[in-house]
Amino acid sequence: MTQDELKQAVARAAIEYVPVGTVVGVGTGSTANYFIDELGKIKHKLDGAVASSEGSAQRLKKLGIEVLQLNDVTELPVYVDGADEITHHLAMIKGGGGALTREKIVAAVARKFVCIADQSKLVDVLGKFPLPIEVIPMARSYVAREIVKLGGQPALRQGFTTDNGNVILDVHNLTIMKPLELESALNQITGVVANGLFARRGADVLLLGSEKGVQTLTR
Ligand code: A5P
Repeated sequence: MTQDELKQAVARAAIEYVPVGTVVGVGTGSTANYFIDELGKIKHKLDGAVASSEGSAQRLKKLGIEVLQLNDVTELPVYVDGADEITHHLAMIKGGGGALTREKIVAAVARKFVCIADQSKLVDVLGKFPLPIEVIPMARSYVAREIVKLGGQPALRQGFTTDNGNVILDVHNLTIMKPLELESALNQITGVVANGLFARRGADVLLLGSEKGVQTLTR
């Protein structure tokens, strides 16, 4: 199976987690895009969706799925999204697509986070994938200096502005042995909007696409 076929398989499997007659939280990225395509097939069973990026919102609307604002929704039973890296404890690095802040917000509201990923995303230790950090533009240099003190090597994502009008620093050379601690430490740096470590609010379920089929991991 190709990587795209694995992504499609987990996207299909995630539909089982979407309760009929509810609003579903929808992530961002190539795997989430396959999930959106699957949602299109059951749209008559949905009350709508909350999207974690403008890109996903557009894709949902094109398929005729109503996109609601998070502020107008009180209940979000499930949020489905991909990851750049995920551990067996279901802590993740996210934000490769730059949507980490909205992803974190929607994930915080959702009762259940279902991560969909192909097997290449499963790691023992987070950090090989550069950790994305969304930063207020005027704080970019200061935040970068603070990250160097924490042992990382930040690089500005060139020519990229987030949906919130901010910049992304991709932090290289981290071996993240304590994701909870690092997530908190990064949040303490003034000017950081959000960081791509999803350890405090990790996934509840991982649907992992492998040659053996879709495996389900829970924590
Ligand atoms: C988007 O900002 C990210 O968090 C994505 O969820 C993550 O990068 C996974 O994307 P792919 O499904 O494209 O690998």
